[in-house]
Amino acid sequence: MTNKEIVVSGIRPTGNLHLGNYFGAIKNFVKMQETNECFFFIADYHSLTTHPTPGDLQNNVKQVLIEYLAAGLDPDKATLYLQSDLPETAELYLFLNMNAYMGELERVTTFKEKARKQPDNVNAGLLTYPTLMAADIIIHKAAKVPVGKDQEQNLEMTRTYARRFNNMYSKDFFPIPTAYNFGEQLVKIPGLDGSGKMGKSEGEGNAIFLNDDPKKLKKKVMRAVTDSGPTEKNQEKPEAIQNLFSLMDVVTAPEIISQFDDQYNDCTIRYGDLKKQLAEDMINFTEPFRERIAELSSNDDYIKKVMNMGKEKARESASRTIEEVRQIIGFRKYYSI
Ligand code: TRP
Repeated sequence: MTNKEIVVSGIRPTGNLHLGNYFGAIKNFVKMQETNECFFFIADYHSLTTHPTPGDLQNNVKQVLIEYLAAGLDPDKATLYLQSDLPETAELYLFLNMNAYMGELERVTTFKEKARKQPDNVNAGLLTYPTLMAADIIIHKAAKVPVGKDQEQNLEMTRTYARRFNNMYSKDFFPIPTAYNFGEQLVKIPGLDGSGKMGKSEGEGNAIFLNDDPKKLKKKVMRAVTDSGPTEKNQEKPEAIQNLFSLMDVVTAPEIISQFDDQYNDCTIRYGDLKKQLAEDMINFTEPFRERIAELSSNDDYIKKVMNMGKEKARESASRTIEEVRQIIGFRKYYSI
């Protein structure tokens, strides 16, 4: 054990990673693994709330793991594991559920949204999503949780359950974790459809995936929303155009960006040229990811090794916590009389 700050974050096993995921989260995970004691896991228990088939579940988990490894997560630096390889998490979830109340769970925004989206499947797992997430985090006594804005309320619930446990049983047992949202370093990656951020659910052409083949990637970029061009010198860029420049910011050389910027400002810009440049730079940027993904996809032995290594390391930390929790609650004392 080291005395580095403990970081925990969960990854939903939903399909492929796009540039928004990479710059918004993964890049920071990759940095954190250098300086912190990191536990990153694939939240496969959580994904059961939407009832995937066994085949889909397995494929998604494998693909997500491969893509995170390709993006730079290092099993020798961080503990990378599957949530379902840690039954200790499920046990802690059970304990936390005993002190979690219907009323507070029903008020969680993500629950209300999901209940609206899947009205025929408002299951108890969906309702207790925040207690499972709390168990994920406090099973390792985490101090910091890197999550996006959409997870802040869930994290607040984690803080509530950790405090509640401490108040009921044992003061200061669980550290109260805080969100780690990278502040200034957080780069917002817009989508290609003219407004808003890059996302999977915004439609096929909106996101650039790390694993997109070059032809497809180019097609998406060439179809990105633009307008009919600037009409006045130095006019402000409308959102769709600004978005293309923001995308260039992460993949294109600064001198080239400033050339296009000058052309925009003197109204000589040709969006076709800008898009060609952007597509080419994105293809170059994503090339090493595609190569690593292909390599890892044909190396099941390595993937298995990574999963086993992670499982072992994660269980070491989790079993320590759960053993203490059982005692604190009163189970072990009872048996050992
Ligand atoms: N709820 C998170 C999401 O939807 C995934 C998640 C599950 C998580 N357990 C976690 C994130 C624990 C951080 C910590 O993205």
